[in-house]
Amino acid sequence: MTKHYHSALKNEKEIEKELDQYIFDNGIAFYYDINKSDTLPSYFDKCDVLYAEIPWRAGIEKFNERVGSNQTYLDFMTSLSNIINNTKKPIIIPSGKLNQRHLPKADQVFETKLNGANAVVNVYNYHYTGNTEDIFAIIEDLSVSFNCIGDFCCGYGNSGIPFLLKNKGFVLSDYNKKCIYFIKNYYEDILKRERLRKSA
Ligand SMILES: C[S@@+](CC[C@H](N)C(=O)[O-])C[C@H]1O[C@@H](n2cnc3c(N)ncnc32)[C@H](O)[C@@H]1O
Repeated sequence: MTKHYHSALKNEKEIEKELDQYIFDNGIAFYYDINKSDTLPSYFDKCDVLYAEIPWRAGIEKFNERVGSNQTYLDFMTSLSNIINNTKKPIIIPSGKLNQRHLPKADQVFETKLNGANAVVNVYNYHYTGNTEDIFAIIEDLSVSFNCIGDFCCGYGNSGIPFLLKNKGFVLSDYNKKCIYFIKNYYEDILKRERLRKSA
């Protein structure tokens, strides 16, 4: 299956529409800017694990341009830190090494690969013992251990796919409404392909 990744290093996909919210049988994708509050909206209450691949420092302006935001890197890191400090749920944050000094001290830190680059994973309220090879291995293992993932920087929605395929829950949000429109079509296609595969 082709993977689509919302990266600051590549051009944004040409996505013709924006969407505020889309509801699936087992989950939801919706527009939300994490700078709006120190805690996550109640949609995330049903999640038993939180996860977000956060922007690298150099990437934040690119993501901002795509949505017309003027958030600073420190705005983002402050909002993220508040979310981390205000939850007791397991929360797993892959990021670049340079982000480390702006994050609350993690209970566990390990190295992985993200799009071929070295990355570190900060784990709070949990101890991860699964495959650390790359972020796709990590989210696959999380989809075995947990029932509903919440990703508040979801981009094109990679973290939810192993949960979707296992008929588990997912709550996905991003401040880019084109990502929400993309996920609607991406996930519907995956579900259609799965139905065809099972009926073949
Ligand atoms: C590294 S990308 C995540 C890629 C994603 N894991 C995927 O599967 O495509 C970081 C994401 O954070 C989002 N983002 C940046 N600032 C945000 C904010 N203040 N609130 C919500 N999302 C934000 C960007 O739009 C981008 O999609």
